[in-house]
Amino acid sequence: MAKYKIAWLPGDGVGNDVMEATRIVLDALNFSAEYIHGDIGWEFWKHEGDPLPQRTIDMMKNTDCALFGAITSKPKEEAAAELDEHLRNKGSVYFSPIVRLRQEFNLHTNLRPCKAYPGNPLNYKEDIDLVIFRENTEGMYGGVEFHPIPEDVFTVLEKNHPKMKKFKAYGLENLALSTRIMSRQKCANIVTQAYKYAQKNGYKSVTVVDKPNVLRETGGLMIRTAREVAKKYPGIELWETNIDAQAMWLIKNPHDYGIMVAENMFGDILSDLAAQLVGGLGFASSGNIGDNYAVFEPTHGSAPKYAGQYKVNPMAMFLATRLMLEWLGEMEMATTLEKSIATVILEKKVKTYDMGGKNTSLEVAEEVSRIL
Ligand code: IPM
Ligand code: MG
Repeated sequence: MAKYKIAWLPGDGVGNDVMEATRIVLDALNFSAEYIHGDIGWEFWKHEGDPLPQRTIDMMKNTDCALFGAITSKPKEEAAAELDEHLRNKGSVYFSPIVRLRQEFNLHTNLRPCKAYPGNPLNYKEDIDLVIFRENTEGMYGGVEFHPIPEDVFTVLEKNHPKMKKFKAYGLENLALSTRIMSRQKCANIVTQAYKYAQKNGYKSVTVVDKPNVLRETGGLMIRTAREVAKKYPGIELWETNIDAQAMWLIKNPHDYGIMVAENMFGDILSDLAAQLVGGLGFASSGNIGDNYAVFEPTHGSAPKYAGQYKVNPMAMFLATRLMLEWLGEMEMATTLEKSIATVILEKKVKTYDMGGKNTSLEVAEEVSRIL
């Protein structure tokens, strides 16, 4: 019997291409697993009105963790327009299935390492090694949004905050509201995860990134909570920065930073920026990690125009697979895989178009497998 049960969620577009590539590598590693396919993505939105059907969630509950490819996400109106005729105007609202998965399984920690592998022609500078901890379940992406703002919601807000008054004149139908709800518990958790990682891996500082000078309550809660957590780790300094300045400093002095921790949306933005410093989204992996379950994915999207062409760089998917192996405790396999990835990058014999090559995602997989 296989040692692990892995939920296999290719999703849309190039998600399929990179998942096929990573399967080649997993088989070459002799990873002992049963892979169980899960329906997820745009097809299921169009034909069932739900991009993450309940059957997929139920299936995942019987697995150890999941590997996820990529998914197409579109804004509300565009998504609604693509629904099958019989599903239209029935109240289905598209919500990104990966964001939902993170919430449904309480995958509170989004771990996003961004490392400049030596020899990568796309490195912005050599020796960059950043790890971002992104809160993954609440904040700006918590999903509590309104348009128009319901009358009773507006009334309560108006009663409790003097700044609401000026919005009334526009009319509720002309107002949209997205909330940024953050809990002390989740702030404490994400900072603790960052600190534990820092301690385990010998880092001397953790940088908490927000905007408490303007977002006084949510940003303030994050910073105050981070200070509390930091007290438990006297050897590791807490650096506090604002998101705007941090974006600039990351370009200017990327070597000054190691571990960064941020709320959901700020972490999302920061991690794309960090990815670009180490070769772009073709090298950026994510671990969505909860207490007992995790979903591993490349940070890139589904790039529909490249779907089925095996053109995109599968390294991000391989690096996500490496994170999975590590999380499962398969340390030797994880290290072997990372070494092989690093060698293929360094040797530059087999590379995809983003690195100036002509090889397919599958050829890169074969090469990584060959030198394992
Ligand atoms: C990411 C992506 C997702 C997010 C999208 C696809 C909803 O950008 O994983 O960073 O915003 O979390
Ligand atoms: Mg993103």
